Amino acid sequence: MSVMYIRGGRPLEGELAVHGAKNSVLPILAACLLAKGPVTLNNCPRLTDVAAALGILRRLGCRVEQEGHTIVVDPTGASGCSISEEQMRSMRSSIIFLGPLLARAGEAHLSYPGGCELGPRPIDLHLSALRAMGCEVREEQGIHCLGRPKGGEVQLSIPSVGATENAMLCAVGASGPTTITNAAREPEIGDLQSFLNSLGAGVRGAGSSTITVEGGRCLSGGEYTVMGDRIVAATLLSAAASAGGTVRLRGVDWRHLATVLSVFHQAGCRVESKLEYVELFRDGSVPLRGAPTVRTAPYPGFPTDAQAPVMAALAASQGCTLFVETIFDSRYRHVPELIRMGADITTEGRVALVRGVERLHGARVEATDLRGGGALAAAALGAEGTTVLSGLNHIDRGYEGLEEMLRLLGADVERREA
Ligand code: EPZ
Repeated sequence: MSVMYIRGGRPLEGELAVHGAKNSVLPILAACLLAKGPVTLNNCPRLTDVAAALGILRRLGCRVEQEGHTIVVDPTGASGCSISEEQMRSMRSSIIFLGPLLARAGEAHLSYPGGCELGPRPIDLHLSALRAMGCEVREEQGIHCLGRPKGGEVQLSIPSVGATENAMLCAVGASGPTTITNAAREPEIGDLQSFLNSLGAGVRGAGSSTITVEGGRCLSGGEYTVMGDRIVAATLLSAAASAGGTVRLRGVDWRHLATVLSVFHQAGCRVESKLEYVELFRDGSVPLRGAPTVRTAPYPGFPTDAQAPVMAALAASQGCTLFVETIFDSRYRHVPELIRMGADITTEGRVALVRGVERLHGARVEATDLRGGGALAAAALGAEGTTVLSGLNHIDRGYEGLEEMLRLLGADVERREA
C-alpha cells in the first residue's frame, strides 16, 4: 500500500493541461456498445475507474486497446448481456452499462451496484426510465431486463446525472423517439450528446432540462476527444487557494467552473477566466476570507464533487463558511480528517460550519472517498509541516497521477510504499 508524503508551506507556481473527465469518459465508453464499428477515444484519463470500465467491455466481448490517453473499442464482437457482481462492485457507476446493453442485446442482467462512501446510491430512476421506454425490468436477486426499447416519455423526479445518461443511451437504441424531462444539465451530458451525434445519433437538448432522442438510427464507429475534467480543475485550484501562488489550467471551460471560481474570488483570490485557460492567484501572506454559504446543487449550481476540496482550502481562513450538501447523504467524511489537521468544523446532517483557523498542521490522514482524498491533498499543501496521506486507492479512481500534477506545480509531494 502506498502513501503520499506532502510537505506544506510552499506556494504553487505553474501551468498544466487538465486530463480528460472521468465522468464523461465512463458513459462514453458504455456508449461504445451501441456502435457498429471501432471507436477511437482521445484524452482518456488513466484511472482505475476507467480500467474497470474497460474490463466490463472486454467481458462483454469487445476488443479494447489502450495506448497512453487513447482507447480503441471495437464492439463488433460483443455478445454478452450480463455483468458480474464482482464487476458491478468494482465501480459504482457500472450501472451506466445497463441502458446501452439493453438497447444492443435486448436483454441485460446485472447485480445491484451497491452503495459507496457517499451513502446509499439508489437506481430507481434508472429502472423507471427503462420501463418508460417499454422494457420489462424485474428486480429479483439482481436486475433483469428484457425487450428492446421502443422509446417513450421519461420523467425524472430528480435531475440524476446517471439516470439521464442511461436513458439517453437506451433511447439511442430504441425503435422510436424518446423525450427525457427534468434531465440533468451537467457538461458531461453535453459531451455524451456530442459523442453520440458524432456516430450518427439524433440527440438534442443536452444542457437543458429536456432532451429528445430520435430512435431507429444505426451508429457507426468513429473518433472523439473527451472533454477536460472540471472537478480535477476545481481540486487543483483549491490546492492553489490553500498553498498560495499562481496556477494556470488549460483544457477546461471556465464556464463549467463558474460557481467554484466565484467562491474563491469572494474568499480573496484573483481569478482570471479566458477561453484558453483559467488562472487562480492567491497571495499566501494574506489570509483567505470566509465565503458566503456554499450550497451544492445540480448543474449549473455548485458541484457536489467540488465541496470537499473547496472546504479544505477554506479551513484555513479568517471568518466562517457554511456548507450545505444537498445531493448526497454522507459527503462529509473528509471532515474528521481535516480536524486532525487542526481544522475547526462542525457538521449537523447535511450542514457543515467551517470556522477558519490561521493555519492547518501536517498529520497522518486517510482518504475516505475520491474527492475527500483530493481535498486532503489540497489542505496538506497549505499546512505547516508534513502530511502523510493514505487511502490512495480512492484518489487513483479519479485523479491521474495527482502527485505528478502537484509536483509540476512546484509542490513537495512524493508517493512511497508505506
Ligand atoms: C454522478 O453520479 C457522478 N458520477 C458523481 O461524481 C456526482 O457526484 C453526481 O453525478 C452528482 O453530480 C459519475 O458521473 C460517474 P446522481 P450519479 O444520479 O449519477 C439520487 C465523483 O466524485 N438518485 O446525479 O450516481 C442519488 O442518491 C462522483 O466523480 C436517486 O435517488 O449521481 C443522489 O442523491 C461522485 N435515484 C442524487 O440522486 C436514482 O435512481 C444525485 O445522484 C439515481 C440517483
